[in-house]
Amino acid sequence: MSNVYAWGTGIARRAASGAILDVFFPCPVLRPAPELAAELLQRFPRGTSETTATALQELLAHLPETLATSLAPLTDSRTTLLTVLLTEDGPITDTAEAYLKLHLLSHRLTPPNSQNLDGIFAALPTVAWTSEGPVLAEELSGCLLRARLEGRHLDVHSVDKFPRMVNYVVPPGVRIADASRVRLGAYLGDGTTVMHEGQVNFNSGTLGPNMVEGRISQGVILGADTDLGGGASTMGTLSGGGTIKVSLGRNCLIGANAGTGIPLGDRCTIEAGLYITASTPVTLIDETGEVVRVVKARELAGGSDMLFVRNGRTGQVECRTNRRAIALNEALHANN
Ligand SMILES: CC(C)(COP(=O)(O)OP(=O)(O)OC[C@H]1O[C@@H](n2cnc3c(N)ncnc32)[C@H](O)[C@@H]1OP(=O)(O)O)[C@@H](O)C(=O)NCCC(=O)NCCS
Repeated sequence: MSNVYAWGTGIARRAASGAILDVFFPCPVLRPAPELAAELLQRFPRGTSETTATALQELLAHLPETLATSLAPLTDSRTTLLTVLLTEDGPITDTAEAYLKLHLLSHRLTPPNSQNLDGIFAALPTVAWTSEGPVLAEELSGCLLRARLEGRHLDVHSVDKFPRMVNYVVPPGVRIADASRVRLGAYLGDGTTVMHEGQVNFNSGTLGPNMVEGRISQGVILGADTDLGGGASTMGTLSGGGTIKVSLGRNCLIGANAGTGIPLGDRCTIEAGLYITASTPVTLIDETGEVVRVVKARELAGGSDMLFVRNGRTGQVECRTNRRAIALNEALHANN
């Protein structure tokens, strides 16, 4: 067992005030092998430290070529080489640690909900992500003014704590129609397609293959061959009192504009437009079409083979056995 939890050496960009805005880790490492871990512990202090190119030269054998060759152009005074060495998966204490943990997720080294992300919001500054890179939100108006005076157009893509994932990591085998809708820290499994309506938060994602045309909230995971229909929603736990972590098993379909606030097992379908919350009264219908009883949806949490519909005649939410195997569109799932 390695006595180092994670290691990353990356390129940090700083604000005019000196604050770290972001860090790009080309090759983060989770639980390095004991030999490398011992060497790292000898060379670097625990936590975040500035790294010289010389220190890195001695580690070249362990570094990806991309990082090794990128050492030369580090002449910009706002760019710093940083090393983060974490001996354990503790709460996040600074910006670089937060970026390392987000990279571990997007590189598929750690699945969602497996890391300690306490402190992440406090550690990440609010940044204006512009066509010329990150700018501290407070420094933006000065940058906009300077750009105009110099005849340049500065495009501001977002003002947020989290940048778009693809500017740091593009995991193999994924398609993302609108890059702005997938935050760094998203975990996208092989064969995942995120369409324009799809949205994936940090510490959430898909195990692949999946079709995502709806919102995957923080902490939510979709199993293989599960689809989120257009505008569908998975309920998060960050605000609004929802406390049950939602996850979906394999071969589920959350219909267009539908949603769920309870976790579901395998082969479950929610009718288009129907939102199941934990307290929704659900009428259980047996194979013969008879009413069995009415339960709160939370009692069905984690169950498999369920079909949820809002009865077109009575308006009641019903749960039937999902008899039909969901014929997912093979062409869509081919991810090409
Ligand atoms: C829920 C849904 C899958 C049901 O489709 P279906 O073809 O009726 O499915 P089934 O035949 O398996 O339905 C099972 C039973 O429930 C009944 N049922 C389905 N929806 C019902 C409703 N709203 N009210 C009452 N009964 C309903 C069916 O009539 C059937 O009953 P039966 O066995 O007595 O004939 C479909 O309406 C749906 O919403 N699909 C989502 C598609 C989607 O949004 N895809 C993403 C696109 S981006």
